[in-house]
This record gives sequence, structure tokens and C-alpha cells, in this order.
Amino acid sequence: MKKIVMVCLGNICRSPMAQGILEYKLAQKNKEAYVDSAGTSGWHEGERADSRAVQTMKKYGIDISKQRSRPFSRTDFDEFDLIFAMDASNYNDIISQARTEADKQKVQLILNLSYPEKNLSVPDPYYNDGFDTVYNLLNEACEKLADLI
Ligand code: 4NP
Repeated sequence: MKKIVMVCLGNICRSPMAQGILEYKLAQKNKEAYVDSAGTSGWHEGERADSRAVQTMKKYGIDISKQRSRPFSRTDFDEFDLIFAMDASNYNDIISQARTEADKQKVQLILNLSYPEKNLSVPDPYYNDGFDTVYNLLNEACEKLADLI
């Protein structure tokens, strides 16, 4: 079974949403994968997803209230087949922890699934809101990803 981890900065907004959306799509398509999420920072370790993220996802019928934030760790390179960064800064932070070329090959910007080679970032909604925009961008990308699994 493929193992996929979604990574953002705090692991309370974008990557929990990405995890929830991908899990939902896989279930809809009768496909199986292990999906997790993490943050490049440990600032919110152990916390639930941001209430705005939980509420937005609830609108679309997806419950992410049980997720808890955890920091990304080097051992995630061993654990996971695919590592999706939400933005360019997350990508660089993850790549800087890679030990080998094989580790680096696992890391991709998630929006390159829906907008190939554009290197677009999912905007950070923590300070400026925009949770629906985040949902729509992740929904498009996860649709492509679920089809690939
Ligand atoms: P996330 O959003 O990376 O999508 O979970 C953020 C969450 C918390 C902070 C920044 C972004 N923060 O500065 O605490």
C-alpha cells in the first residue's frame, strides 16, 4: 500500500485539509493508501486542526476534527513513498532534511499535480483566511492524485 504524507508549516490548516480530502476521494473511488500529514515546524504539536479548517471541511462533508498536529521528521523519508509540500518554503525545508537523492525524489509541490511544472504554492490561510480557496486548490490536486493511486 502506498504511503503519502502531506506537509505544511503548522500542520493545522493546509496539510490536514489535504489529508482529509485525499482520504475522502480514495474512499469514494474504492482505492487504498495510507495518508498522513505533518508540519515543518513543531509549533502546534498535539493540537487539533484550526477551527476554520475544520469548519470549511465540514461544509464539504469531511471531518478532520480527529487529526492532531505533529512535526515532520527525517524518518518520514523512510516511512513514506510520496511527500507533498504545500508551498515553496515547506518544499525547501523538507529538501534540506533529505539524506539522499532518493529522499529528494519523494518530495513534490502538491499543486504540480494539477498545474504541472508551474511550481505554485497553496497560500497560507492562517493569517489571511481563504480556507475555501485552499479547499478548491487541494480538491483539484487530490482528484488527480487519487486517480494516480
Ligand atoms: P498551516 O498554517 O501551515 O497551513 O498549518 C499555519 C499554521 C500556523 C502558523 C502558520 C501557518 N503559525 O504561524 O503558527
